Amino acid sequence: MLVLAIESTCDETAAAVLEAPRRIVSQVVHSQVPSHKRFGGVVPEVASRLHLQLLAPAVLQTLEQAGISMADIGLIAVAHRPGLIGGLLVGVTMAKGLSLMTGKPLVMVDHLHGHIMACDLVEPIHYPCIAGIFSGAHCNIYYGSSGLEWELLARTRDDAPGEAFDKVAKLLELPYPGGPSIQAFSADCSGNPLSLPSPLPASLSGDFSFSGIKTAVLYSLRGTNGRSACPRDEWPLLAASFQNVVAGALAKRMCELLMARGCRHLYVGGGVACNKRLRTLTASLTAEIGAQSHFAPLSLCVDNAAMIARAGIILHEAGIVSPLDGDVGTYSELGLPTAENTIG
Ligand code: KG4
Ligand code: ZN
Repeated sequence: MLVLAIESTCDETAAAVLEAPRRIVSQVVHSQVPSHKRFGGVVPEVASRLHLQLLAPAVLQTLEQAGISMADIGLIAVAHRPGLIGGLLVGVTMAKGLSLMTGKPLVMVDHLHGHIMACDLVEPIHYPCIAGIFSGAHCNIYYGSSGLEWELLARTRDDAPGEAFDKVAKLLELPYPGGPSIQAFSADCSGNPLSLPSPLPASLSGDFSFSGIKTAVLYSLRGTNGRSACPRDEWPLLAASFQNVVAGALAKRMCELLMARGCRHLYVGGGVACNKRLRTLTASLTAEIGAQSHFAPLSLCVDNAAMIARAGIILHEAGIVSPLDGDVGTYSELGLPTAENTIG
């Protein structure tokens, strides 16, 4: 079966054709980063207008690249939450229209379920597992007992790690998006890391918090309490220390949860999963406890529609089909205890 998927939750306009179970036949990802860069972050209204312009051509292009038409498609999948409301409406309206027009079934997918399934596109996920999704908007760690059953174990009480990277990059006068900028800026850095507060909560059930480390970077740059401002030639060291503390906190909590839940496999996705320091730290910490870490490939860490297609197939195989009056939502329901079905 061929699946057409649409992703428009934030600042990537994407469409893909996947052949079940996991062969990517074609995909198109239009990054809107160049349009948002001068604002230092994503502007929701600009994003919705760009999705409106870019989505229909992206769908046509992906069908053309696959050498097929809508008649060959067996399922339409679309990310319907969480995200920016304008972009979600554009994507979901197009998916509903295509479903209505062609009579093909529609499946609405939680974007975070999609991020986890980016790992499943490479090789089938081993259950039970722990999955960490870290992006510009999310900092969630899940326990998964099957492709359909997820339990949210950890989240953030303020910023997401990618958001913290973006804000700290701004303080360091580095370009948006902050993650790759900080990674490159601190690449050749040597010297003892500077001390910064950890975003890791004391208890295993506590939420991450990134406000302390952001404020500490700000105070280091300004100088405070009798301490002079960090000299410019030490800014790369400050960036490296920030990256190290954030990566260390995420890797440590994922490993603690692996041990607490008796899992041997860890899956990591989302934009921040591109971070090299996070990848190396996580690999060595998981190896120490006899577990294995699996990161989504770089091209599938950032938002894309292939991961939405894979999650859509899993839902559809379980008999889930979305009604045409299904709604969009700004928050994820994946793994929340209150959700009737663990899939949002
Ligand atoms: O998953 P994504 O493309 O979009 C969201 O759903 O948010 O993630 C974008 C975020 C940005 O905050 C960006 O700074 C961060 O991922 N990011 C990184 C790296 N590459 C992207 N953070 C740390 N290190 C990186 N190499
Ligand atoms: Zn995302």
